Amino acid sequence: MALREIRVVPDPVLKQKSLRVDAVDDELRALMDDMLETMYAAPGIGLAAVQVGVPKRVIVMDLSRDEPNDPRYFINPEIIWRSEETHPQEEGCLSVPDIYDEVERPAKVRIRYLNYHGETVEEEAEGLFAVCIQHEMDHLEGVLFIDHLSRLKREQAVKKVKKQVRAA
Ligand code: NI
Repeated sequence: MALREIRVVPDPVLKQKSLRVDAVDDELRALMDDMLETMYAAPGIGLAAVQVGVPKRVIVMDLSRDEPNDPRYFINPEIIWRSEETHPQEEGCLSVPDIYDEVERPAKVRIRYLNYHGETVEEEAEGLFAVCIQHEMDHLEGVLFIDHLSRLKREQAVKKVKKQVRAA
C-alpha cells in the first residue's frame, strides 16, 4: 500500500468525468487499498479515485469514527432512487481543504454498486451515509460540493485554498 497525493482545487483533473470500471481485479483493489490508506492519513471519511488523479468510478469510505474501522468500497455506483425530502448538511472535502458549507441533498437514496469483491450490492443510505455517498458520487461527474454554493462562495473557497497551497 502507498499514500497517493490528494489533488486540490483548482486542479483540472477534479473537473473530469470518471470512467466506468470494466473489471474488479487485483490492480483495482491495489488502487482502492491506496485510496483507503490515503483517506485515513488525511484524515477523511470518503474519497473518490479522481481525487488522487485517477478518473475511475471508484469510491472508498469509512463512517465508523471512533468505532473499529469499517472500510467500504463502491465501484460504478448508481443512484436508483432519491427521496423527495431533502436535508441540509455541512460538508467539507479533502480537495477543498478547510472549507465547510451547507449543501441541501435528498435525505435518502437507494444505490447500486459493485463491492471490493466485484459483487453487485443494492442498499438504502440515509443520514451521514446518504450525504457522503452523494458527495462522493458528485466527484465522479467532476462536481465538487462548492459547485452547489453561490458563485461568490465558490470563488472565495478556491481563492482561499490557492492561498493555503502557496503558503505551504
Ligand atoms: Ni469531496
